[in-house]
Amino acid sequence: MTTTKSHTEVHEANNVEFRKAPEHFFKSQPGTGYITSYEQYKTMYKQSIEDPETFFGKMANEFLDWDRPFTKVKSGTLEHGDVAWFVNGELNASYNCVDRHALTNPDKTALIYEADDEKENRIITYGELLRQVCKVAGVLKSWGVQKGDVVAIYMPMIPETLVAMLAVARIGAIHSVVFAGFSAGSLKDRVENAGCKVIITCEEGKRGGKVIHSKKIVDEGLHCVNSVEKVLVFARTGNLEVPMQRGRDFWWHEETAKQRAYLPPVTCNAEDPLFLLYTSGSTGTPKGVVHSTAGYLLGAAMTTRYIFDLHPEDVLFTAGDVGWITGHTYALYGPLALGAASIIFESTPAYPDYGRYWRIIERYRATHFYVAPTALRLIKRVGEAEIDKYDISSLRVLGSVGEPIAPDLWEWYNEKIGKNNCAICDTYWQTESGSHFIAPMAGAVPAKPGSASVPFFGVDAVIIDPVTGKELEGNDVAGVLAVRSPWPSMARSVWNNHSHYLNTYMNVYPGHYFTGDGAGRDNDGYYWIRGRVDDVVNVSGHRLSTAEIEATLSTHDGVAEAAVIGINDDLTGQAIVAFVSLKKITHVDDPTEEMEDDSPEELRRELIFLVRGEIGPFASPKAIIAVKDLPKTRSGKIMRRVLRKIASNEADQLGDLSTLADPDVVPSIVESVNKQFLKFKK
Ligand code: WTA
Repeated sequence: MTTTKSHTEVHEANNVEFRKAPEHFFKSQPGTGYITSYEQYKTMYKQSIEDPETFFGKMANEFLDWDRPFTKVKSGTLEHGDVAWFVNGELNASYNCVDRHALTNPDKTALIYEADDEKENRIITYGELLRQVCKVAGVLKSWGVQKGDVVAIYMPMIPETLVAMLAVARIGAIHSVVFAGFSAGSLKDRVENAGCKVIITCEEGKRGGKVIHSKKIVDEGLHCVNSVEKVLVFARTGNLEVPMQRGRDFWWHEETAKQRAYLPPVTCNAEDPLFLLYTSGSTGTPKGVVHSTAGYLLGAAMTTRYIFDLHPEDVLFTAGDVGWITGHTYALYGPLALGAASIIFESTPAYPDYGRYWRIIERYRATHFYVAPTALRLIKRVGEAEIDKYDISSLRVLGSVGEPIAPDLWEWYNEKIGKNNCAICDTYWQTESGSHFIAPMAGAVPAKPGSASVPFFGVDAVIIDPVTGKELEGNDVAGVLAVRSPWPSMARSVWNNHSHYLNTYMNVYPGHYFTGDGAGRDNDGYYWIRGRVDDVVNVSGHRLSTAEIEATLSTHDGVAEAAVIGINDDLTGQAIVAFVSLKKITHVDDPTEEMEDDSPEELRRELIFLVRGEIGPFASPKAIIAVKDLPKTRSGKIMRRVLRKIASNEADQLGDLSTLADPDVVPSIVESVNKQFLKFKK
């Protein structure tokens, strides 16, 4: 990214007007523990940066119940990568999310299960949730799972997945949820990396009317994995015929029936890991991001209350899957820490028809809806007619997450879904941040369509010039986004690889946490996120590593080399395009020719199949383009910038090619792209 170009864009951003949510609509009154004005945000933000100890010490006592008070609010530095919050404090996350509400209000709704088939919907109260969590925790305890052990959870978006997570947390163990769309190979990598002894899964999942063979995938994934001793299987569809391995596999309903309805929570240190969540980075292998118990939970609870203006009687519908960070923080920990109700949606926005989201909102009088722009783009394109059939007037706050929301989509969201009567929160954050980094506080901080607005409390955001590595002071600047001081919910490490943590986040701009995103700050101090500056691609809000896909493609016999890039896509935000140079060209000299006849079409299919099988269907390339050679510098580095331009039909804007070892490859790549990809796009 060049600083000059971004500058012009920031100038343009300066012309975007503030949009205030209708104030009369908000029920939060000044002085009641919610943020009700931009001035209040500014005052509190200043305190949180200037005196984080006092600010967060107070918040930690207000939001969380402690078994033992902390003796120091914060220690360590970003530079050393040894940050700790609420030192010596002790608490339990499941107690904070379940018991304390179950004790005072057992009949209050905790989870609303909107099943794939609407006939199977269920409501789970806090009292019931406590019993279920205790029983599963009892099973794990009886199996010898101890504090600090990692338990993998490979399950779809059903209440039992959240029960499992809370049960793991209850006994002080660490959960590692693996998104149910991941393949057996990806599951295996994650289970092995964390040395999991136990996996919790279900026999089958259901999504969009189709059956997902979860247990079968677990069995495949566990082939040759020695660490796993026990598998707990929840009967989701009731197919008790799935093969069970004697001594290893046990049914959830049978095992929980043997347990008591109450098991005391294990007291954890504030810094004990609550969970790992594997995410893609710029290297080939996924990394287990480690989150702490107290700091993470505080970030989840504070942002849910302050950004979303969520009250305990509200109903939050987070449409993301619990296999990703959005589900962890805003379907589970945030709303439950506050004692609110969370809707758990197992299906897709298109099943059985495009009215699904709105039917859910109408049925449960949801006050908050939180979704990725990719789903909104889909509905805007094909499902708009359904919206007005439903009464969605209960909505007060509309959130957006995972990728930038374009200004025109923002306006559409505001008008069509919000009926100009809701706050729109474009929330920018990451797996590593644990909770919202930059987002407008509903009803208090005015939004600007296209901007995620201003940083959350304690997030000391700065823009760094990537060339000089220096902070850019003042407004109207662009560069890369970093954070200058620790915040409570930041990731504490990468599992078994602290040096990777230091190198990826802390050592790039010493003294700062580096987000990996480019961003600008306009004249009002508002932030405009410009996307990743590393090799991470965002497809439908899913974070994918191009290096991981390249490594997978390269394992195919026919592939000499692979280069994967992301290009803009109207529906999915970005789409994956893979360039491959082929190894064996026996019959024809020109691989591009070859890819057009029958057998290479098969190779193309094989490559797609390989990616789907090794990583998961969501990582499938949109196109695979065979080329004679990839564009490389003299030192052999692939110039992905050139590929990106060509695949985006901008071959006339390739810029400086003088560093290419062989500039002649360019015309042949352009030809291959035209023949194999662009002609299909038209
Ligand atoms: C991108 C998802 C623009 C960004 C919560 C970030 C966004 C990555 C936004 C993290 C947003 C997320 N506007 N870009 N509102 N939200 N991103 O870890 O590039 O799956 O670094 O966390 O998504 O993806 P992750």
